[in-house]
Amino acid sequence: MEIQLWRTILCPYELAVEELKIKFEHLIVEHRENDLYSPIEQVSGRVKSVTSILEKMQRKQIPMEKMEEDVEDIAGVRIICQFEEDIDTVANIIRERTDMEIKSEKNYLTHIKQSGYRSFHLIVYYTVQTIHGPKRLQVEIQIRTMAMNFWATVEHSLQYKYKGEMPPHVAERLSRASDAILALDREMSTVRNEIMDAQNSSQMQTNLVKDILNNIENLYRVSSEREVLKIQNEFLRVFKTGDLRQLERFHRQLDIIAEGYRAQAVYQEQYRGHS
Ligand code: GTP
Ligand code: MG
Repeated sequence: MEIQLWRTILCPYELAVEELKIKFEHLIVEHRENDLYSPIEQVSGRVKSVTSILEKMQRKQIPMEKMEEDVEDIAGVRIICQFEEDIDTVANIIRERTDMEIKSEKNYLTHIKQSGYRSFHLIVYYTVQTIHGPKRLQVEIQIRTMAMNFWATVEHSLQYKYKGEMPPHVAERLSRASDAILALDREMSTVRNEIMDAQNSSQMQTNLVKDILNNIENLYRVSSEREVLKIQNEFLRVFKTGDLRQLERFHRQLDIIAEGYRAQAVYQEQYRGHS
């Protein structure tokens, strides 16, 4: 196959990876906007290199014409979660989506690999629009915790270094490290609720402050400078207390003030209409 042809074949896979990265990253944004804890921490993706595709086809005796069907991970997306429980949540989100159809699932959390590898894998069908029309292709989605990702990244480098001939003492160390990662994930799960609460209130504070400053800026247009300055000082005082409830109360008060100005503006508008 010529170089140009490879590029043509891989082009829609590039698009699929880019689109899916945006979609999953936007889930993080959507959770934050709604003051919700995001089960997704981070998203990455890649298109398999031609070398890796060829190596895999050789290893699995896949003929050229079956490449797109049998090499299921030409497009790959990796979703990193903070906690093990989040993996299920993300898998369910994917199962519910209408823009991807699940072909298969592999649960290496319940069935840990011999190497010590843990992750949840999905192969999904996803359609991209190309200049030749729609193209349905396969994407491998790997979902794992940050700790699992740490282990897999290190193990992958070592596999690469030893080219599949991992010395037994190294494999043994990795296996023990995998046990430690498992214990770490379980330990972190026990404090998950507390961590989630902390992250939630910090996100709520960020959103509240954004809203309040927005409101103050709007007031600046319709109110006197003295009044806005007063409000701003009051905001700073409340902010310094670090008390989320006070901040919420202030936010509501500000809303009422803004509402008052809006009513006044409407009234003036009607008055002008009658004169
Ligand atoms: P390949 O392993 O890619 O040939 O495909 P497969 O059909 O055997 O699927 P499998 O689910 O075993 O692996 C898919 C992907 O998961 C791999 O390409 C890796 O990215 C990852 N993976 C699977 N096993 C391991 C492992 O032992 N260590 C690491 N670091 N990654 C693994
Ligand atoms: Mg494999």
